[in-house]
Order: sequence, then structure tokens, then C-alpha cells
Amino acid sequence: MGPMTSLETRIGLPDALRVLIETLPRETWEPHPNFDGLTRFWLDRHLMFRDLLGRLVTGAEAYLDKSADPMRHAQETARYAGFLLNQLHGHHQIEDQVYFPKLEALDARLTAGFELLDADHHALDGHIHALADRTNAYLQVAAEAAARDRVGELLGALQQFETFLDRHLTDEEDLVVPVILTYAPEME
Ligand SMILES: [Fe+2]
Ligand SMILES: [Fe+2]
Repeated sequence: MGPMTSLETRIGLPDALRVLIETLPRETWEPHPNFDGLTRFWLDRHLMFRDLLGRLVTGAEAYLDKSADPMRHAQETARYAGFLLNQLHGHHQIEDQVYFPKLEALDARLTAGFELLDADHHALDGHIHALADRTNAYLQVAAEAAARDRVGELLGALQQFETFLDRHLTDEEDLVVPVILTYAPEME
């Protein structure tokens, strides 16, 4: 992956992969006759990931502002981060093993798109591990004076992760939803 395609540096889908999203822009998705429950469910998972990450960022900011109860913050961080990172890992596995192979076969123009998403998942794997390490580094000292510095570092990692995850989810939706709407594949 070069700078135009790698998760950390690209600013959107490369032009060659925008064929379908240009035909089927976001506002046409929900009213489309091929928009089904599975697509809704899948988009809702993405919303849930964004929501959990938003809660973690807001929580860390409140902690650093001294407007959060420290013990409660530690508990919520453990719960939200554990759930987010676990669910995200499982979500990537299902996409890689079940959904994407089926979708990829439908439109040869998008082979490079599915390669890009696969590379994103590998990149995100590394970021998931790094974020888990940052979270644990904080939780291990949550009751000590060092906690504040660890939360500061964690907030930086969360904000960076938010940028990468948002890039991935947005581009993935732009690639995958138009394929589903166009071909209405049997996914279950
Ligand atoms: Fe994904
Ligand atoms: Fe996804």
C-alpha cells in the first residue's frame, strides 16, 4: 500500500474505487429496494464502534479536566475498551472470512478495493494491540499518582485510533454498500 491507499495516510478512496459510490451516493442507500436488514445491522455495528470510541475519548477528556470520578473512569474505560476491541476484532474476522470473499466475486472492478480493506484490517490489528497496551498501562496504575500521565497518553492513542477507524469505516461503507445494493447477493 502506498500513501494514497494506506490507512494512516490516505484521505479517501482512490478515484478508481469510487465508481459505485458515485452511482449510489449515501442518501440513496436507505430508500433503495435492495437495502435490507443485514446491511442495516452491519452499518449499526459501525455506529456502535464509533459511539464506544467517542465515549472513551470524552471520558479521558473529562478525567483530565478533573470533572470525572477517577475510579468510575477506570471501570468505564476497562469495560468500553474491552468491549470495543473485542467486538472490532470479531467484526473484522467475519468480514474477512465470510462477507468480503462473497462480495469480491461480484465485481472485478473492486478487487483492489477489497485488497485495501484487507490491508486496513491488518493495520488496525496493530493499532488495536497498541490501544490495548495503552489502556492496560493506565488501568494497572489507576489508583496511583502516575494514572494522570497514562490517561494523557491513552487519550492521544484514542484520538489517533479514532482517525484511522473513521477512515476505514467510511471507505468500507462507500465500497461495500453500493456493491450490496447493485447485486443484492445472498449473504446468509
Ligand atoms: Fe472492516
Ligand atoms: Fe466493518
